[in-house]
Amino acid sequence: MSFPEERPRRLRRTPLLRSLVRETRLRPSQLVRPLFVSDAIKERREVRAMPGVFQETQDSLLAEARASVEAGISTLILFGIPASKDAQGSGAWAPAGVIQKALRRLRSELGGDVLLIADNCLDEYTDHGHCGVLDEQGEIDNDATLELYARAAVSQAEAGAEIIAPSGMMDGQVEAIRTALDDNGFPEVAILAYAAKFASCFYGPFREAAECAPRFGDRRSYQMDPGNRREAMREIELDLEEGADMVMVKPGLPYLDVVLEARQRVEHPLGVFSVSGEYAMIRAAAAAGGLELRSAVLESHLAMRRAGADFILTYFARELAGWLREEA
Ligand code: PBG
Repeated sequence: MSFPEERPRRLRRTPLLRSLVRETRLRPSQLVRPLFVSDAIKERREVRAMPGVFQETQDSLLAEARASVEAGISTLILFGIPASKDAQGSGAWAPAGVIQKALRRLRSELGGDVLLIADNCLDEYTDHGHCGVLDEQGEIDNDATLELYARAAVSQAEAGAEIIAPSGMMDGQVEAIRTALDDNGFPEVAILAYAAKFASCFYGPFREAAECAPRFGDRRSYQMDPGNRREAMREIELDLEEGADMVMVKPGLPYLDVVLEARQRVEHPLGVFSVSGEYAMIRAAAAAGGLELRSAVLESHLAMRRAGADFILTYFARELAGWLREEA
């Protein structure tokens, strides 16, 4: 009988020992909360596949943002749903558009207590539901779309966004937005690029929440093929060359290999978006009695940090902040 010389279990013996040697930690300040604000509703409405997530009115948004800040989640990313849509998505840059109104109100009511990120895309605003405008053949017109993203970014910055997050996956979008921000007096506004965004079925519930399912076709001509990791590195590199301050991988859990490799290559801050389908999946499994909610959420978010994400965009942000405080 020989006995082991190496005994890793020595350091797993008690909670204090385990905590001392834990390599990865999760803090509320590393979480970003997505919020939906709609000008098409009179009362806040729960998203069917996402229990606990709502489309907010301008009023309920403010209440939620306040509650969020009090719970320790001060960074918010806003998605707007306009009262009416058109082919160009003109609601995205309207001075009194849904997102502009929301940004102004949160900025004036909450001041420096919140950090406001504006998602920059057209799909919530176009009547066809695509992330870009269409040419005569009905194809996405990449370069015409860039001008509209730039216009939307400037109006988001004017309304108080401190970070613009382009999510449409058009080529050149970061450069177009950077140039427009600089030319219009917003050199201090940062860009968080959805750099490696995959064409994922896990966005399903978001399309209900943001009312942006494409009316025809799909997003595979602009979002990335799920099989491509090298291409993800190239997308990240390009966005950094174009002037992104931070980059993001999306979705989260099924793409942690991409997060890990990005972390190894990139010195810039790296985020991961744990998307609507990930939220729905954990919620549904917990509701069915198959998973314990709190443990599943804590473990999966720790895994995203362990893979290398500096921060996580997650619909669990507010609940998670409460649990993290109890753990501390
Ligand atoms: C596009 C956008 C989407 C998400 C964030 N920005 C939807 C899409 O690409 O279809 C998905 C987020 C989620 O699923 O939680 N504006």
